[in-house]
Amino acid sequence: MTDKQVYPVTPEVAKHALINKDQYQAMYKQSIENPDQFWAEHGKRVDWIKPFTKVKNTTYDYNALSIKWFEDGELNASVNCLDRHLESRGDQTAIIFEGDDPSDSRNVSYRELHDQVCKFANVLKSQGVKKGDVVTIYMPMIVETAVVMLACTRVGAIHSVVFGGFSPEALGSRVVNGKSNIVITADEGLRAGRKIPLKKNVDAALKNDDRHTVKTVIVVTRTGGDVAWTEGRDQRYEDLMTNASADCKPEPMNAEDPLFMLYTSGSTGEPKGVLHTTGGYLVYASMTHQYIFDYHDGDVYWCTADFGWVTGHSYILYGPLVNGATTLLFEGVPNYPDSSRMGQVVDKHQVNILYTAPTAIRALMAQGESCMDGTNRSSLRILGSVGEPINPEAWKWYHRVIGNGECPIVDTWWQTETGGILISPLPGATDLKPGSATVPFFGVQPALVDAEGTLLEGEAEGNLVIMDSWPGQMRTIYGDHERFIQTYFSAYKGMYFTGDGARRDADGDYWITGRVDDVLNVSGHRLGTAEVESAMVSHPKVAEAAVVGYPHDIKGQGIYVYVTLMQGEEPTDELKKELVQWVRKEIGPIASPDVIQWATGLPKTRSGKIMRRILRKIAANEYDQLGDTSTLADPSVVDDLINSRQSK
Ligand code: PRX
Repeated sequence: MTDKQVYPVTPEVAKHALINKDQYQAMYKQSIENPDQFWAEHGKRVDWIKPFTKVKNTTYDYNALSIKWFEDGELNASVNCLDRHLESRGDQTAIIFEGDDPSDSRNVSYRELHDQVCKFANVLKSQGVKKGDVVTIYMPMIVETAVVMLACTRVGAIHSVVFGGFSPEALGSRVVNGKSNIVITADEGLRAGRKIPLKKNVDAALKNDDRHTVKTVIVVTRTGGDVAWTEGRDQRYEDLMTNASADCKPEPMNAEDPLFMLYTSGSTGEPKGVLHTTGGYLVYASMTHQYIFDYHDGDVYWCTADFGWVTGHSYILYGPLVNGATTLLFEGVPNYPDSSRMGQVVDKHQVNILYTAPTAIRALMAQGESCMDGTNRSSLRILGSVGEPINPEAWKWYHRVIGNGECPIVDTWWQTETGGILISPLPGATDLKPGSATVPFFGVQPALVDAEGTLLEGEAEGNLVIMDSWPGQMRTIYGDHERFIQTYFSAYKGMYFTGDGARRDADGDYWITGRVDDVLNVSGHRLGTAEVESAMVSHPKVAEAAVVGYPHDIKGQGIYVYVTLMQGEEPTDELKKELVQWVRKEIGPIASPDVIQWATGLPKTRSGKIMRRILRKIAANEYDQLGDTSTLADPSVVDDLINSRQSK
C-alpha cells in the first residue's frame, strides 16, 4: 500500500533547500557504497587539532563488536562550538535565552559564550576536574547549563546531565553509577511560575550517597531562593567565576574519547549510561542538524527539548553551535502564561525553524486554534517533530495551524543511543506523509526483521534494525560493555536492534509504530516498565505490580499499573493517591501513574512470567483481542481483571 496523502516538496521549499531529490539519491548511494570516502569528506566539517587518516572501523560481528570512527583524529568539542566561530561571527548571537517569565530574555554572543565557557573550564580545573572525570549536571534550562556542558568538554571531562524533573533518588543513583564526585546545580529552577527545588534535591540525593565521594557542589543562582549550605562542599558559581581567567587552552581529545554520557531507560534493570564519543558524534550531530532542518546561515532555530534529554544535547547545543547557528534556549513550557506562548516566542524572536514534540502539539490542539490567536508565525520555514510517533491528525494540525500550511514537517526518528537523527525527510528532497518518518539519513541502513531475525523485503512490518554503523552511534554503556552488546546486538546477529517496530510502505517509506519492548514513551519521555514496577513494590503495602502503557490522547502513552496489595491491606482511593505520590518521589513526576487498578492476581505463565500482552489489552479496553490465555497458570485471573476494570 502506498499511503495516499502525500505533501510533495513545494517549489518554494525546493528553491531554498540545501539538498534536492537527485542530490539526496546520489549522496545516499555514495554514503552506503563507499562510506569511507563519504565520511572522509564530511568528517572535515568539524575542525581537527590533528586530522584523522582513518575513517570507519566498525564491525557488528557479535563476537568482535567494535565501533570506531575517525579513530586517529584529535579535536575539542568546545573549540568546534565556539573558538572557530570567533573570527567570522564572534558578535553573532549564539544563544537566545527566553525565560519562563516572558519579560525575561537575553541574547548571548559567541564571544560572550566563549568567555564564560573558558572561565568555567578554569573553575573546573581549580576544583581538580581532569580529563575523563564525570561531572553530573542537574540544572534548569538556563544559559549557565550550556556553559557548564561546554566547559566540561573544554577540559575533557565527561558530562552526565540528569533531567531536572528527576527525583533525588534517581539523581543519586546516577551520581553513584557514574562515579561522579562533582555536581553542578542551581538554587531553584522555574517552570510555569513554579519553583523547582534543585539544590534541595541534590542535598537529599547526596545524603543517600553512602560513599560520600561528592566533594564539590557548585550552585548557580537562578531564583535567589533560600537553600541549605554545606560548608566546604557547596560553592557559589558566581563567586568562582569572578576571579576565573577567560583564557583556557582546550584539551585535545581523541575522536574516540568520551564526550558525554546520558542515562536512559531500558526494558530491564536500572537506567543505563549511554556513552557518546567526540569525533563521530560531532560530525553526525552537526551534519544532521544542517541538512534535516535545512539550516542556513542566519536562521533562528528553536528546539523546545530539555538539556536533560538527548535532543537537548544534539539539537539545542552541539549540532547548532558546531554549525554557528543561533539557538533558542527556552526555560518555560508551551502553555505558560497561556497557550499562546509558543506562537508568541516564535514571533518575538522571528524563529525560522521550530523543533518540538507531538505531545506538545496535541496539548495545544486540545486548546483549539485560538491558542495561536494574536501571533502570525510568518517567520517559520521548517517544522520538526521528535520523541514519539506523531499521529496524522496532530501532524496536519501542526502543518496547517502552526505552520500556516506552508512549512514542511520533518518527523525525525532517533534515540539516545543513536546520537542523532537516523530516519527523517529532508525538506527539499522528500515528499511528506503525515505520520511517516520516511527515509534514512546518509549512511543509515534501516531494515525490518521478523521475530526470528529474517530480513523482510518490500512492503512489510517488523522489528526495526540498522545494518551498519553511523558516526553518531553510542559506543558503550558506561561501566558495562557486556550489557551494551547484549542489549543491542544479541537479538539479531550482525544488526543493531532499535527496540522499535516499524512498517515500510510500497514507496519504501518507514512508519515507526512504537516500542516492541517493555519501554514506555510517556509524553515523549522514555521510561522502563521495570523502573516503575520496582518503585511501586518498594512501597511497604505493595506485594506485586505490573506496569504497561495504554493509549493516551495527549501523552501518547499513559502509565497503567496493576497492583496486588500485601495480605490484609485495604484497597482504598487514598492508598491509590499515596502510591502515585510514592512513584513521583522515587523517580519523578514524569513517572506518575495515570491509572492504578487493584489486582488480586496477575496473569502469569506456569513459569511465573507476567504476560504483559494481556495486561496491555485489558488496559486498552481491547478484551476481544487477548489472544491465547490457555498457557496461563490461572486463566481465571484474566476474568477478574476484566470485571474489576469494567466495574470502575
Ligand atoms: O520509540 C522511539 C521514540 O523514542 C524512542 C527513543 O527515545 P529517547 O532515547 O528518549 O530519544 C528521544 C528523542 C530522540 C525511540 O526508540 N521515537 C523517537 N522519535 C520518534 C519516535 N517514535 C516515532 N517517531 C519518531 N519521530
